Amino acid sequence: MERILVLNGPNLNLLGERDPAHYGTKALDEINEGLFVKASELGVELVCFQSNHEGYLIDKIHSERKSCQGIIINPGALAHYSYAIRDALEAVALPVVEVHLSDITRREEWRSESVVSPVAWRVVIGRGWMGYIEALEVLVSHLRE
Ligand code: DQA
Repeated sequence: MERILVLNGPNLNLLGERDPAHYGTKALDEINEGLFVKASELGVELVCFQSNHEGYLIDKIHSERKSCQGIIINPGALAHYSYAIRDALEAVALPVVEVHLSDITRREEWRSESVVSPVAWRVVIGRGWMGYIEALEVLVSHLRE
């Protein structure tokens, strides 16, 4: 059974109460519940981890690199400046799907660039919580090609 690492970065623990116009009304636990349902339909195992700390996210990428076959990550604002997250993802050489709930290309100028995207296999933006489900589906079908 494939195992997928699902990472969420800073402030995504506040989903549901944080800026619902951009991020929707579902809490992160509810989004993860939906992912677990989809994962069991697809027959894959998930490891979900959220941190507000860049280094903890990097430690998780490192520690799961041999036990997971792919990564889904919403880096939050780290997407816009963390070359360390980018390098960690590149170093482990697993297929990565980057997710953003909001359409970062249609918001503030500083949000429109992601330094993580160049090392992502796919990027899903502006699809709300469904973006995570889509990310899981495309990643699993890619792993099974
Ligand atoms: C986000 C977009 C980022 O710009 C922001 O800092 C977030 C959430 C999104 O999911 O749309 O924390 O990654």
